[in-house]
Amino acid sequence: MSHARLAELIEKKQAIIGVIGLGYVGLPLVRAFTAAGFRCMGFDVDQSKVDKLNAGQSYIKHIDSGALAQLIRDKKFEPTAELGRLGEADCIIICVPTPLNESRDPDLSYIEGTARSIARSLRPGQLIVLESTTHPTTTRVNVWPVLEGTGLRCGVDYFLAFSPEREDPGNPHFQAATIPKVVGGFDEGSGTLACDLYGHAIVKVVRVSSMEVAEACKILENTYRAVNIALVNELKVLYDKLGIDVWEVIEAAKTKPFGFQAFYPGPGLGGHCIPIDPFYLTWLARKHGEQTRFIELAGEVNTHMPQYVVNRLAEFLNQQRKPINGTRIAMLGVAYKKDVDDPRESPSFELMKLLLERGAVLTYNDPHVPDLPKMRHYPDLPAMTSQELTADYLASHDCVVIATDHSAYDYDFIVKHSKFVLDTRNATKAVSAGREKIRKA
Ligand SMILES: NC(=O)c1ccc[n+]([C@@H]2O[C@H](COP(=O)([O-])OP(=O)(O)OC[C@H]3O[C@@H](n4cnc5c(N)ncnc54)[C@H](O)[C@@H]3O)[C@@H](O)[C@H]2O)c1
Repeated sequence: MSHARLAELIEKKQAIIGVIGLGYVGLPLVRAFTAAGFRCMGFDVDQSKVDKLNAGQSYIKHIDSGALAQLIRDKKFEPTAELGRLGEADCIIICVPTPLNESRDPDLSYIEGTARSIARSLRPGQLIVLESTTHPTTTRVNVWPVLEGTGLRCGVDYFLAFSPEREDPGNPHFQAATIPKVVGGFDEGSGTLACDLYGHAIVKVVRVSSMEVAEACKILENTYRAVNIALVNELKVLYDKLGIDVWEVIEAAKTKPFGFQAFYPGPGLGGHCIPIDPFYLTWLARKHGEQTRFIELAGEVNTHMPQYVVNRLAEFLNQQRKPINGTRIAMLGVAYKKDVDDPRESPSFELMKLLLERGAVLTYNDPHVPDLPKMRHYPDLPAMTSQELTADYLASHDCVVIATDHSAYDYDFIVKHSKFVLDTRNATKAVSAGREKIRKA
């Protein structure tokens, strides 16, 4: 009965979608569902985010404030911090954070807290979908028992599925609605409901046989990236010693029409996903007496990259008879990747810490990050604000480190006015004048 009723609501687009966690994943999802004609409620424990949304202000660069304000005026989207209202939603999608704790083990407290919030108002006829990235078995082990504790039965009274988010912030070619969605249900009925729901809003739904396959799929995707980035980072170090430019090698290898996919080296991994998610699997492997050696090794190689960049900088400054101590360094880019305003896990913070420890006089510019946010792992970094990227600013520094290759940067201008440029992203590849001032790392 519950199934048929919910299926009908989904079919007629009358089901109310409740998205929990209005961040980089949750907000684009709201956009996809409202665009498909559904009414959305958005739940977040951060009252300041809810207030901003209700005032029609987006806090995510690539989500347009005007469009958001219109959705709120039209009552197609209602943000709220009242999790007690979760019972009003027919389909609840969980997009809360999944970080690592201090000992680099999975921190499932956000997922578990959310499951408890849902359980408090769980009613027959609701579909719950977990989208947060996590290791296989989380939905069954950490969510399902909490919901069953209400006395309602999964597959009969309510429905449960896992469907990983594949958001790529800053990528102009893909949005939540245009990225195929993998879905695994707790049971046949749950899987069908979740597929039907996403089918209205997402270009393609890929159904898999279980929630665990869907969970494992997402971790495979992220581990694949972490390992391949580590590979090119390792080769960057070797090829550099041999006088070979790894970026040129990758461009050449990319011309092979099969069997090769390009990954690029950089100053280290960043973002909420790639440096973190693979270690969920490592933790799970340990629990089962197995090892994930590729993941550990990739972590080691990638974690070493900021130190490598600083060592390269020290070498080049040394050639100019300069120490890092007292040298004025301008860091360009503190977002973890190009064209986003997200600084989470950005290698720029480690670079800054290492440079400051060595006595550098540091400033930064990032067109997308006006103030350096306080980061949990870098409590000692001083407060800084983004400096205006003028010719005088560049010229007043001994060295410019390109840490993030934002498209907004004019690299000809940067090289022209800088004394020395350390480029960790091959961002200056098209610059022809002043190349003698550029070093890659
Ligand atoms: N950012 C990405 O590009 C990306 C891509 C794919 C998958 N993911 C995964 O999606 C999940 C969410 O990531 P994100 O980047 O959107 O995080 P985020 O920090 O941008 O957003 C999460 C939101 O959840 C809120 N929140 C925390 N606990 C809550 C609770 N108990 N109830 C309600 N709201 C709560 C936070 O206030 C925050 O606004 C993570 O598992 C992440 O790994 C992220």
